[in-house]
Amino acid sequence: MNKLIVGNLKMNILSQTERERYLNSLQKELVGKKINNCEIILCPPFVHLEGFRKAKIKKIILGAQNMFWETKGSFTGEVSPTMLKDFGCEYVILGHSERRRYFCERDEEINLKIISALKNNLKPILCVGESKQEKEDNQTLSVISQQVKSALEKVSRTKAENLVIAYEPIWSVGTDEVPKENEIMEARVLIFKILIGLFGVKYAEKVKIIYGGSVSAFTVKQVCLDLGMDGVLVGRESLTPYEFIKIIKIISEK
Ligand code: 13P
Repeated sequence: MNKLIVGNLKMNILSQTERERYLNSLQKELVGKKINNCEIILCPPFVHLEGFRKAKIKKIILGAQNMFWETKGSFTGEVSPTMLKDFGCEYVILGHSERRRYFCERDEEINLKIISALKNNLKPILCVGESKQEKEDNQTLSVISQQVKSALEKVSRTKAENLVIAYEPIWSVGTDEVPKENEIMEARVLIFKILIGLFGVKYAEKVKIIYGGSVSAFTVKQVCLDLGMDGVLVGRESLTPYEFIKIIKIISEK
C-alpha cells in the first residue's frame, strides 16, 4: 500500500506572491528526486486551490482543509464538495482539532461531512485525538473510540478504501512533543478494531491509518515508519518545501 504524506498548510501563505514562491521552491526541491510508494497530498487554503492546481506539480495531489456537507445553496461562507472536486481536490481533511476547538465542530456534523465527501467522490481524512487533559485523565482510548464511531456512523463499508483516519493527539500539534511508540500503536490497534466492528476485516484493512502531530524529518521514523503506519499528516514542516521533501524522501526510501 502506498504511504500517504499529507501537508496541511492551515491558514498560511498570505498572498499570491507567497504562493508562487512556495510553489517554485517546491518544484525545485522535487527536481531529480525519485519518489516511490508514496502519495503526496497538499491541502492549501481554499483561495489557493486554483493556483496550486494550475502549477501542475508532478506527484502533488490536491486536498482541502474542510468543506460543508451540502452541495449548494444558501450557506454563506461555506464551500461545497462539488466545488472542491471541480477545483481538482481528491482529498479533504475533516474534523481537525482546530475546527473542533475554534469552530465548535461536533461529531454529528463531522459525520455528515464524511458521508457527503464520500458521496461526492472525495476521500476524507478524518482527524481524531485526545487533548492533554484527556490524556492525563486516561481518557485517550475512549475519546478516540467515541470520535471514530460517531464520525463513521452510517458509512458504507464499500467506501472504506477511500477513507483515511489520522490519529492526531491535540497536545502534539505544534508542540514538538510526540507520543511514545506504544501510545501510537495502541491508538492504531483500537481504530483498526473499531473498523473491523463496523466494516469487517476485509474492508477494515482498506482504511489507511496515519499519524499527525509534530511530524518532522527527526520524528518520522519513530511516529510512522517503525510502527508501520500508513502515512503522516504534517503541519508546520509542510510550509517549508525543503523540510517537507526531506520527510517524503525518508518515507520513500524506506
Ligand atoms: P504540526 O505538524 O505543526 O504539529 O501540525 C500538525 C497538524 O495539525 C496537521 O494537521
